[in-house]
Amino acid sequence: MYDCWLGYQAADPKALAAETRDVLSRVAAGGASAVLRTALNELIRGLSALTGGVPAVVPEQTAEPHVLIAAPGSAVAAEVRRAMARPADGEDEVILLTARAGPGQIVITSNTEAGCLHAVFAFLRRLQAGEDMTGLHVADGTSNKLRMISHWDNLDGTVERGYAGKSIFFADGQVTRDLGRVRDYARLLASVGVNAVCVNNVNVTHEAARLLTARHLPDLARLGCVFRDYGIRLFLSISFDSPIVLSGLRSADPLDPPVRDWWRRQVAEVYEHIPDLGGFLVKADSESRPGPSVYDRTQAEGANVLADALDPFGGVVVWRAFVYNCWQDWRDRSTDRARACYDTFVPLDGDFAGNVIVQTKLGPMDFQVREPPSPLLTGLRETNQAIEVQITQEYTGQQKDLCFLHPQWHEVMSAPAVVDGNATTLGRVVSGHETGRPHGGVTGVANVGDDPSWTGHVLAQANLYAFGRLAWDPGLDSRAVAEEWVYQTFGPSEPVASAVTGMLLDSLGIYESYTAPLGVGWMVTPGTHYGPSIDGYEYSRWGTYHFADSGGIGVDRTVKTGTGFTAQYEPGQARIYEDVDSCPDELLLFFHHVPYQHRLKSGKTVIQHIYDSHFGGAEGARRLLDIWLSLAGHVDLVRFDQVRGRLELQVANANEWRDIVNSYFFRKSGIPDEHGRKIY
Ligand code: GCU
Repeated sequence: MYDCWLGYQAADPKALAAETRDVLSRVAAGGASAVLRTALNELIRGLSALTGGVPAVVPEQTAEPHVLIAAPGSAVAAEVRRAMARPADGEDEVILLTARAGPGQIVITSNTEAGCLHAVFAFLRRLQAGEDMTGLHVADGTSNKLRMISHWDNLDGTVERGYAGKSIFFADGQVTRDLGRVRDYARLLASVGVNAVCVNNVNVTHEAARLLTARHLPDLARLGCVFRDYGIRLFLSISFDSPIVLSGLRSADPLDPPVRDWWRRQVAEVYEHIPDLGGFLVKADSESRPGPSVYDRTQAEGANVLADALDPFGGVVVWRAFVYNCWQDWRDRSTDRARACYDTFVPLDGDFAGNVIVQTKLGPMDFQVREPPSPLLTGLRETNQAIEVQITQEYTGQQKDLCFLHPQWHEVMSAPAVVDGNATTLGRVVSGHETGRPHGGVTGVANVGDDPSWTGHVLAQANLYAFGRLAWDPGLDSRAVAEEWVYQTFGPSEPVASAVTGMLLDSLGIYESYTAPLGVGWMVTPGTHYGPSIDGYEYSRWGTYHFADSGGIGVDRTVKTGTGFTAQYEPGQARIYEDVDSCPDELLLFFHHVPYQHRLKSGKTVIQHIYDSHFGGAEGARRLLDIWLSLAGHVDLVRFDQVRGRLELQVANANEWRDIVNSYFFRKSGIPDEHGRKIY
């Protein structure tokens, strides 16, 4: 459970061909850096478990069969890169090659040291998949320079939207003394190619603002060291009003020279302790956090003052685009929260410094189970971007309900986009490749805590795994990722492999069908965001409404009669969303207010869809439990019981959703279920 997907469930080592076993019995490595040492140790650890014998460490020039980690820049690495026609200046990559001439040799290399570590893990993954090691010829580059996990951990050890226990970084107002667990975490992250971690909550309290000071910097440096060994750079969330909070300056106005100087000095002090800090993550002017708007300055002016201070050290500012009015009057139908980030940021395109990355949530609202892709992602052309997904299941079942999120992320990353008349995908836009930006990538809000399983639900480990794989290669399909995770976590044997893969792949659809229908979102219990409360956010200040009445439901975001949000999309996409007939069913209520008798493309009316999907979703939850129960005896008891307990909770939750949603809409519409099922 604790090892997650690094438990190295050995297939029968004897099944390996004798020739392969011979190669795998010796390892060599060039270079002496900490990351390359980690790579060698991980190779030894993995091979020991998978082959049943500890490999011998041999000199690089050995004539015997062996596995070699070739340091970037070494003669062997250069030769291999030439042979595989790899450019020297690409993003991180994994290269695995079985040499054809001479004694058996498998070369593991990359253009970076961290890449060599990623390549070791990729090699071990392929070995477990039963791939033929005598013919490896793999060059797998990533398009995303930034692959960051963002923790919403507080200094007191609590985790905002955390469903797996306490923070693994902080307790009692400081960095935890024993970082053993952090080291294990760094391993997990590196194994899926994550290269950055922001350790503290984006909602930075005054206490957490002090992380930038001498009081905490030595401890943060310790954290940074642990991650450095695994090729991961540390980031910190900072508060925009730090100059006021920490030094009593009269303002934090980004255009004020003393404020500029203050940031330069403070950043220099931070880098004395953590010379390879990745940079800062900033939530400003958002949900009552301070920001540049207080001084009538733009988001770009706010970000650039930090960028200026970080630039000499190679640091970047990850500036969140999650800026909206959270004090809306629910009576006001002209303000549309979905419009906010585009309206705020697109006019500033081109104003951000070269080391600022604007980080946009994948949908225009807030990590709901179903949203269209944020139009800001294609709206920015001259700004570095990152897409932010939520690995922690805030609105998707809180790691009590099973909800494998890779299909949601993958759908957005592969959504069509047009850049300068050329068709591409959103994933390629975000990486910066289509727009020629130097930075780009994917960030995810962490789902781990100090629970023995890290994620509270063993099967939620799959989301952490999937995040790394998505960030590395957005093109990988969800089935491939699920299968990889399952065989590394539970071993390759049936019936577990196919049953759990199927459960993961069905889970998002099941969760969606028993919660808020057709893209409308937000019918959750206020505050906790778990379980149904149809009107919980209907008369609130958060801009999150469904507008259900006796005639119909949905938010009219059309140009013709609504908030005009659809116009933020490229013309082709805008037309699809604008027209009620072409808008995809699953997003209908996100874009349109329709009568309950409106007929979907599926042929059902909206109201019948609500009934059918909620009855079906609750049955789906029950099915997940039954499938799991059928695996009794095939999964170890600890994991079996933990997952069983979670799935039982899910069944109860799904029943509650079903009955509350169906009863609510039956009472509003007065239209009975065609199949006469029980509605209250
Ligand atoms: C959501 C979430 C908050 C979080 C915010 C954010 O609104 O409920 O807890 O702070 O997102 O992304 O900043």
